[in-house]
Amino acid sequence: MSARTLEEHVNQLAAAGADADRDDVRSTVAELLSELESGRVRAASPDGDGWTVHPWVRVGILLGFRFADVVRVEAGGAFGFSDKHLFLPRHPASMPGARLVPGGSAVRRGAHIGQGVILMPPCYVNVGAFVDEGTMIDSHALVGSCAQIGRKVHLSAGAQVGGVLEPPVAAPVVVEDGVFVGALAALLEGVRVRHGAVIGAGVILTASTPVFDLPRKRVLRADARGVLEIPERAVVVAGSRPMADAWASEQGVRVSAAVIVKDRDQKTDARAALEEALR
Ligand SMILES: CC(C)(COP(=O)(O)OP(=O)(O)OC[C@H]1O[C@@H](n2cnc3c(N)ncnc32)[C@H](O)[C@@H]1OP(=O)(O)O)[C@@H](O)C(=O)NCCC(=O)NCCS
Repeated sequence: MSARTLEEHVNQLAAAGADADRDDVRSTVAELLSELESGRVRAASPDGDGWTVHPWVRVGILLGFRFADVVRVEAGGAFGFSDKHLFLPRHPASMPGARLVPGGSAVRRGAHIGQGVILMPPCYVNVGAFVDEGTMIDSHALVGSCAQIGRKVHLSAGAQVGGVLEPPVAAPVVVEDGVFVGALAALLEGVRVRHGAVIGAGVILTASTPVFDLPRKRVLRADARGVLEIPERAVVVAGSRPMADAWASEQGVRVSAAVIVKDRDQKTDARAALEEALR
């Protein structure tokens, strides 16, 4: 099926709901997952200077969960897993250009893994995610469902990139080429990190996080679509701010905020440099 026909068919099956033909749903979703793995279909794709979200992809994935059976997979010895049968992990042999280092990682069916991607254990890449060439996903990092990760991105240990399935959000998280995401940082709810930005260790960005942009003297917030955008090459660190509520302020209560301290410079480059020997 062409991508357009697949889209139409997914939408028809979703409209039929519980009345949809089970075998048709299963084979259609299996085809969608293969297309996602190849990168020919994406949950969101670059479009000029921005991104176009393809909501039908999430619709198709959810349809698959509804119509799949839970199966048990034996892994030898005392080990085994169970999951919906359409969404079992990809076999490493299906990702020949990537390096899946041993130790408890999984790439779920329907995730695209580009050439030269390194997956350090344990990490998890969920369905519909797109991870482009040369990206490093360090230990305990999560690439959530439908998240879009660019080329030569570094997701440091424990970095969490949220997904769109639960809780349901409209736009996938996007991390563009050359971004460095520090350890334990979290990018959630439709956040878009533009090309070359650096997200400092421990920064948490949601659609509700105000970002204080010091170089440009402005406060960035999510737009009407719920998308919070971090500008190209911005260096973001964790900060805090007083609350607007007078009593909270009197009590000295502060809530977390993110701060763009500067744009990326040579010093940042040195600290966020990728080590070619590891690749
Ligand atoms: C963001 C980061 C790369 C620093 O970049 P940098 O260009 O060297 O930043 P600078 O030292 O020039 O700092 C600029 C300003 O931001 C502040 N700042 C920098 N990093 C900060 C952080 N993580 N938290 C709070 N403030 C920070 C500095 O104090 C400085 O402010 P000042 O001028 O008022 O003193 C670094 O803080 C960071 O988070 N590294 C990630 C480490 C990591 O996760 N490694 C992976 C291990 S698996």
